[in-house]
Amino acid sequence: MPALGFGTSQLGDCAELVATALKLGYRHIDTAGKYGSEQGVGEGLRASGVPREEIFLCTKVSHEFLRAGDFARKVDESLKTLQVDYVDMLHVHWPTIDNIPLAETMGALAKAKREGKTRHIGVANFNIALMEEAISTCPEPLATLQAEYHPYLDQTKVLDYCRKHDLIFTAYCPLARGRMFSDPVLAEIANTKGRTIAQVAMRWLMQQNVAALPRSSSPERIAQNLRVFDFELSDDEMKKIFALKQPDGRIANPAGRAPVWD
Ligand SMILES: NC(=O)c1ccc[n+]([C@@H]2O[C@H](COP(=O)([O-])OP(=O)(O)OC[C@H]3O[C@@H](n4cnc5c(N)ncnc54)[C@H](OP(=O)(O)O)[C@@H]3O)[C@@H](O)[C@H]2O)c1
Repeated sequence: MPALGFGTSQLGDCAELVATALKLGYRHIDTAGKYGSEQGVGEGLRASGVPREEIFLCTKVSHEFLRAGDFARKVDESLKTLQVDYVDMLHVHWPTIDNIPLAETMGALAKAKREGKTRHIGVANFNIALMEEAISTCPEPLATLQAEYHPYLDQTKVLDYCRKHDLIFTAYCPLARGRMFSDPVLAEIANTKGRTIAQVAMRWLMQQNVAALPRSSSPERIAQNLRVFDFELSDDEMKKIFALKQPDGRIANPAGRAPVWD
């Protein structure tokens, strides 16, 4: 899985942006049934001219559809909307809010993999207890956790858990949806490096072996966010960024849907 993916939530009709991202060199695209971007993603994939097998495509099934039958139907709908035969990663988007047994959802997730509709499977927005249950009930191995992560949010416990269980941690909201662009510590590091704050924040994730999904509606910023593999942050700079964590740094915390976070 390429460490850097292009995020497509809130982009709506994103065909042109997805094609741009692929032409610029992105090889990982993140979408979800919930985003309304699957059609645009599919169109962008085809318009880019990049062969399908070179692209790592991720989609997700939303929390309303976690019964086995609903789940299978939503996977088929996603493939149809994207106009692809398979995705590379399929996620459960959020844990259930309706007391649906997790084993049932994990069975449906594994079935999608066994039927060749996805190459890999994962979960998003699960806490450690839910991941424990998911791993023990899923008939196929889970490959990733997708969860919020950026300099303002401490994810030490979850990262440790993922590392111990061989799960790739994929950071969503890696740019804190724009909230850290006036941060003086990040600005100072960015100035020293001759980089932007977005690039420094992305590099901080890369140096932790965390994958990331920056979203942008601007071709210049899409290109900028990709240029994070040709410089390095020192241990001291990494520490300064770790120190920016805030107790209320979490952005995606929908009432009634979010689990008790670790
Ligand atoms: N699994 C989940 O539950 C979940 C939840 C949230 C997100 N996600 C995934 O993660 C992706 C990223 O998260 P996100 O979209 O919430 O937020 P994000 O990537 O943290 O931030 C996006 C914001 O940053 C701005 N931006 C991007 N690059 C910039 C740059 N170089 N300089 C200045 N501003 C820049 C964008 O504005 P411009 O458009 O003006 O550049 C946009 O307002 C999503 O698109 C989605 O694919 C998953």
